[in-house]
Amino acid sequence: MTMSQVDAAVRDPASVVAAIESRFSCRAFSPDRPVSREHVEEILRIASCTASSTNTQPWKVYVLQGERRDALVAQVCAAHDATRANSSLTAEYGEVDGYYPSEWVSPYIDRRRQNGWTLYGHLGIEKGDKDKMHAQGQRNYRFFDAPVGLMFTIDRVMGRGSLIDYGMFLQTLMLAARASACTPAPRQRGTTAQRSSCHSSMRAPTKCWCAAWRWATRTSPRR
Ligand SMILES: Cc1cc2nc3c(=O)[nH]c(=O)nc-3n(C[C@H](O)[C@H](O)[C@H](O)COP(=O)(O)O)c2cc1C
Repeated sequence: MTMSQVDAAVRDPASVVAAIESRFSCRAFSPDRPVSREHVEEILRIASCTASSTNTQPWKVYVLQGERRDALVAQVCAAHDATRANSSLTAEYGEVDGYYPSEWVSPYIDRRRQNGWTLYGHLGIEKGDKDKMHAQGQRNYRFFDAPVGLMFTIDRVMGRGSLIDYGMFLQTLMLAARASACTPAPRQRGTTAQRSSCHSSMRAPTKCWCAAWRWATRTSPRR
């Protein structure tokens, strides 16, 4: 650590707080407002300053824009539609194992339900409206129209501790994006198809776990 690092940490605390407090999960983006490669690289550079246990830096990021982004979106949406038409594909294309607890308990289940009711309420989706729920699910896979999608992977040999490092990396990245007027949004929703596509189209290691995020230059109203 240098003296300039110490000074920089206290020089503008208000903007740090502003970046944290202004972050929110955006679910509507402008596809026609691109984010430049330099901009993406700078945010990733800042995020790479994140601490990790024994400096292992377990993160690996794939940046999707343009045709590669569109191709992945098309593949995943097709898999999503196929799963709906044929429920036996759910096992093949299901959500990431172990992301959620096998049994939900209070207070987490209450918060989860409240979150769902609030979101679907805003979207005008009533309980049981499967068409609208499917369409909203698919908006996730379309990165909510954001022009940039980031796929994050971790090598399966890494342990649970590395997921703590990863969470810190992702939060740092979101705050770095906020600091440059980008609106990042986390998303775990991903199918096996999405992970498979990630492996083949981006030559990711075959043994990896991944989640997806995206960002754009425009925001939507908070929740
Ligand atoms: C790791 C992670 C994954 C998420 N996955 C999704 C998702 O798949 N779809 C979605 O609409 N929101 C997703 N969210 C957003 C959360 O619902 C949101 O963070 C939470 O409701 C709090 O709202 P806020 O981020 O606007 O403060 C995710 C958030 C995190 C941290």
